[in-house]
Amino acid sequence: SAAEKGGWSSFMAKEISEEPEAVAKTLLGRVADGSVHLSELDSIGDDALRSIDRIVIVGAGTANFTGMQAKYAIEKWTRVPVEVELSHEFRYRDPILTPNTLVVSTSQSGETMDTLMAVKYARENGARTLSICNTQGATIPRESDAVVYTHAGPEVAVASTKAFVAQVIALYLFGLHLAVVRGTLSKDEVAEIVTELNALPDKMATVLEQHDSIKQLAGWMADTRSVLFLGRHAGYPVALEGALKLKEIAYIHAEGFAAGELKHGPIALIEPGIPVFVVVPSPRDPNSLHKKVVSNIQEIRARGARILAIAEQGDAAVLPYADVVIPIPLASTLIEPLLAVIPLQIFALELASAKGLDVDQPRNLAKSVTVE
Ligand code: G6P
Repeated sequence: SAAEKGGWSSFMAKEISEEPEAVAKTLLGRVADGSVHLSELDSIGDDALRSIDRIVIVGAGTANFTGMQAKYAIEKWTRVPVEVELSHEFRYRDPILTPNTLVVSTSQSGETMDTLMAVKYARENGARTLSICNTQGATIPRESDAVVYTHAGPEVAVASTKAFVAQVIALYLFGLHLAVVRGTLSKDEVAEIVTELNALPDKMATVLEQHDSIKQLAGWMADTRSVLFLGRHAGYPVALEGALKLKEIAYIHAEGFAAGELKHGPIALIEPGIPVFVVVPSPRDPNSLHKKVVSNIQEIRARGARILAIAEQGDAAVLPYADVVIPIPLASTLIEPLLAVIPLQIFALELASAKGLDVDQPRNLAKSVTVE
């Protein structure tokens, strides 16, 4: 009913609007005095966490991209190698598992059969298991050694939105907890990241204020047949997620690429008029790939692509080459993706709406796939 949607035209629209709250609630009680503690991990224990020598994150769909996203942060903060794998591929390739392997599953519903089977397989083969889940008491957390719940609230729309950001936050908190336990980040470094995480909900709210302008853009593009998404480093999973959203609910051919891969194939797809979303990294980070991404933009623009840049406010370098700039607030490299994903979710939502589609119930898809 309209009341359940809180005045929004769809659950998906409502759930996107709830992202700042989803992040704030997932942080609540877990960050204090500039540090992070997840008491949920006590069931694994600090000694075991110190002995972990490999992390494998398994999930499906959007919940696979959160793992890809978090890998950049967890490896940087903990120096523990992180692999990210689709849950339905994982157990069929005889993966290497030891008691020092931590298999982290990501699942909004906690009921996805492929992911559940991956977790069971991991346990049976001696690995430790941690569930990142949004649904209290679901099967996957019950089958795991520990669970860190995301507190995004119930997600009704088939296409996952607020669960994506909450899941990345939970994985980041896990990474920070592990870094504290293993001593790989200093107190000051942890405090700085915590400050940034606490500032995120307000920044997200700023991005949400652009809903109407993104809606207008999507309206103009309702006849588009193919859209590409480019990102690099932490912006790469966002590009994949942006493409997935558009496929899922707008039924438009969409592909996400790592910007550096362009010249190895995807650039052949560039033809006059093709819309390309580019997630532009912050120019302020000294290790930023900003320059390289701007040069990718120039390359494809010269071949006629229409550039829709998601770039940091005040990033003057992209202006001459972008047809549209969607500005996002200043944030560090690992936080920026959580802001950049929002315009892409809104774009998919509004393009599907402009086509008259049922955004909450896309054809052929289910909210939770409980069969193999
Ligand atoms: C289905 C849904 C997706 C979701 C995926 C994983 O494919 O349509 O939106 O990302 O399952 O679901 P889970 O509940 O495990 O996060």
